Amino acid sequence: MTENAGYGSAGVGFMDGAFMALSELRLPVTDMGFQLADMCYDAVHVWKGRFFRLDDHLERWQRSLVQRRFDTLGYDRDAVARVLHGCVARAGLTESMVTVIATRGSPATAHKDLRTCQNRLVVWAVPFSAVVSAEELETGCDIVIAETVRIPPEAVDPTVKNFGRLDFVQALFEAYDRDARYAVLLDRDGFVTEGRGWNIFALRAGELLSPDRGVLEGMTRRTVLELSAALNIKGRLGRMGADDLRGADEVFLTSTAGGIMPVRSIDGRPVGDGQPGPVTARLKDMYWRLHDDPAYTTPVRYEPAEA
Ligand SMILES: Cc1ncc(COP(=O)(O)O)c(C=O)c1O
Repeated sequence: MTENAGYGSAGVGFMDGAFMALSELRLPVTDMGFQLADMCYDAVHVWKGRFFRLDDHLERWQRSLVQRRFDTLGYDRDAVARVLHGCVARAGLTESMVTVIATRGSPATAHKDLRTCQNRLVVWAVPFSAVVSAEELETGCDIVIAETVRIPPEAVDPTVKNFGRLDFVQALFEAYDRDARYAVLLDRDGFVTEGRGWNIFALRAGELLSPDRGVLEGMTRRTVLELSAALNIKGRLGRMGADDLRGADEVFLTSTAGGIMPVRSIDGRPVGDGQPGPVTARLKDMYWRLHDDPAYTTPVRYEPAEA
């Protein structure tokens, strides 16, 4: 896997009914998606020419639309799938990250009545990249436990994937100030939640634990729980304190953008012996092998590139 090829430098987008180069995608500054983060999205990946868990992503996407009170944007589930295929096919990518966004759109009235907005579908496909660097995927990444708390789920539902992320932004600057690149946030009660773009797992006494609340119900998290059952490792969702994380034998992050990504230090202290652990390595290997399994994958329709 290569280092990010330059985010946004190559790819194909779709907006207002037309495919175009990614660099041509533009949102008006009056779009409430920009002004209020009044949007929702999903991100799915393509590996070796196949979408991974496409139906599950589309299901989560449709739940998000309903929860955020978007209409269908004129694209039902099959039509959205066709656009996703169309972007990847036109971009000619066999390894890709594909993002699908609903934005509220621009209001018809100056007092910005949200009900007058014409909702908008925006999709793009870019070369696959991870939320951590290629080197960190192998050696592990350094994270901090941020002082900034995660926006409470009662305010913004984190199970609806969204860009309302100023908590992550503030936490990331804390991380940079502390010589790390990534931050995990606690909730108001001191329980671990997630970071920008990933869920987190801790292995303690042979059991895998990931936070059960205040987080996105990640597709990769789900896959890890399925794989841990196959490995006969108990995996569960539950409350996790900062000390559960600090005292873990292994810690890893999960995301569509990167899969299973080892953590080698927390707040400057090594996790285990500071090397990616054996369970993390095993799961990572199984995760990537799953990408050949027709039960988890859907071939991209490359030809002819469909509208
Ligand atoms: C806040 C947040 N949590 C978790 C995840 C991981 O979810 P998934 O495994 O579905 O990519 C993401 C992915 O972008 C995310 O943005």
